[in-house]
Amino acid sequence: ALSAFFSTSSRRGAIKNVMVVGSGLMGAGIAQVAAVTNHQVTLVDQTNAILTKSMRSIEKSLGRVAKKKFQDDAEGANKFVTDALSRITVTTEPHSAVGEVDLLVEAIVENIRVKHKLFSDLDKAAPSHAIFASNTSSLPIGEIASVTNRKDRFGGLHFFNPVPLMKLVEVIRISETTDETFDALFQFSKELGKVPVACRDTPGFIVNRLLVPYLLEAIRMLERGDASAKDIDTAMKLGAGYPMGPLELADYVGLDTTKFIIDGWHEKYPDVQVFNPSEILNDLVAREKLGKKTGEGFYKYD
Ligand code: NAI
Repeated sequence: ALSAFFSTSSRRGAIKNVMVVGSGLMGAGIAQVAAVTNHQVTLVDQTNAILTKSMRSIEKSLGRVAKKKFQDDAEGANKFVTDALSRITVTTEPHSAVGEVDLLVEAIVENIRVKHKLFSDLDKAAPSHAIFASNTSSLPIGEIASVTNRKDRFGGLHFFNPVPLMKLVEVIRISETTDETFDALFQFSKELGKVPVACRDTPGFIVNRLLVPYLLEAIRMLERGDASAKDIDTAMKLGAGYPMGPLELADYVGLDTTKFIIDGWHEKYPDVQVFNPSEILNDLVAREKLGKKTGEGFYKYD
């Protein structure tokens, strides 16, 4: 009777087992927050070496969270980290584990062919109730979903870097996404302690559709010689109340990433002027000045 009580208390359709495919910057963060919020997580990547590295970075990140959360309670902090880690299993063979999943979140390389191969393979092996989601920043969710037979159980879950700190999740529905699927993704985002927003499957969803053209406009302003990088950044921080200026932010995001997104959109939507490429940006990327991660972009870092 007790077990019946507990099983009804876990709502129908509730997401318990989560598979995160891709254990890089984003996947590791998604796995971490899912584990902290009591989900059972299977983290997938191509090699065990990558997975070992990812688990180490998750452990470090959990340690930082625990330190803030538990202050002087070293034992509590330790338990928080160990408990979360114990909920994550790693594998290079998603097929072996996908039979158990309620939700699969894909955070692999931003390449439509690679994503298609992954989704069409796993679609056949996953249980019929399982929901598939992509964390893509720049590819249409509908195009990714097109190779599966579960477009009604497909959506976008777009997280922000660093995942453990950034509160927002954009929940994207394609025309086939059912209300039940959408609600489950929305609810799951809340369970992670995030604030979900609903958006349609349009380039850049909400945040990047507004942010990336803004970054490009700042770069074009610099290109025209209208103002210096420092003054553009100071102006937007002090005049618009933004925590970072656009050029600092472009350096932080990575100039290669910024270029990749704008080039993809420009190719698809050549008439949208704010998606036009920028020469300065192309030149910096060609010279491997990619921003903070390489020590130089619009600014120098040491
Ligand atoms: P990343 O390069 O840090 O990680 C990607 C990981 O996927 C790598 O560890 C790679 O080994 C693994 N991988 C590649 N192909 C795989 C496959 N077939 N099976 C299993 N694992 C595979 O990339 P990052 O930055 O984490 O981005 C991942 C996705 O998240 C992309 O779709 C990107 O557009 C999106 N995204 C990125 C954000 C960012 O700020 N970096 C923000 C929001 C979304």
